[in-house]
Amino acid sequence: MTILVVGANGQIGKQFCEQAQQAGIAVRAMVRREEQLEWFKARGIEAVIGDLEGDMAHAFEGCDEVVFTAGSGPHTGPDKTLLIDLHGAMRSVDIAKEKGLKRFVMVSAIRAEKPLEAPEKMRPYMAAKLAADRYLENSGLAHVILKPGPLTDEAPTHGFVDSLEASPSGSITRADVAYALVHVARHPALENRSVTLLNGDQPIDALLS
Ligand SMILES: NC(=O)c1ccc[n+]([C@@H]2O[C@H](COP(=O)([O-])OP(=O)(O)OC[C@H]3O[C@@H](n4cnc5c(N)ncnc54)[C@H](OP(=O)(O)O)[C@@H]3O)[C@@H](O)[C@H]2O)c1
Repeated sequence: MTILVVGANGQIGKQFCEQAQQAGIAVRAMVRREEQLEWFKARGIEAVIGDLEGDMAHAFEGCDEVVFTAGSGPHTGPDKTLLIDLHGAMRSVDIAKEKGLKRFVMVSAIRAEKPLEAPEKMRPYMAAKLAADRYLENSGLAHVILKPGPLTDEAPTHGFVDSLEASPSGSITRADVAYALVHVARHPALENRSVTLLNGDQPIDALLS
């Protein structure tokens, strides 16, 4: 089984690729620039060029699953939110379906289902995440949607909860999101699930089994 990682050069993406490789799971990293390939190749991880705003269908060829962890980031405007977080995600779902991939794992965001309750600046992003999640849910593809809270760069805890009330930090480390993605990769029977992810005191199986 090979997992295409869309957004592989990102902070979660790189940690997921490394953790998956260590777990013996084959991944293909999709990055958008030539100079980004080397980091993966140096670690024995297959990497290809593909752009959410351009050519990418070739990257899906021969893969079995997708992990989508791309994002336009906080330093771009609503134009990139539309083109990457929404349209890029929708195109990825369409291509995965066309190419016969078996499952699509989406990194969404906590409370994406309530964009109007987010701080005003975040609302277009949350609306894009919501629409991408709905598009995936209605695609007919087997899917898992992980909805992390605010991301931090702390060390992994391997402890999780699925509500803000139960999470002392109200956040989750990127390393733990990567760990949860590896858990999903190891459990192909997990499908059609949507789970909020925050750090807490439960093992990942308590949320995703
Ligand atoms: N920040 C938060 O608190 C938060 C909370 C919940 C969920 N999330 C979600 O978590 C996910 C990843 O977070 P992160 O911290 O790992 O983000 P990140 O480091 O910004 O990684 C995002 C990746 O997406 C890639 N990307 C952007 N545009 C692309 C394009 N046109 N074609 C291909 N790839 C493209 C970027 O490529 P380059 O490396 O080339 O720039 C980058 O590698 C995102 O889906 C985000 O929406 C974030």
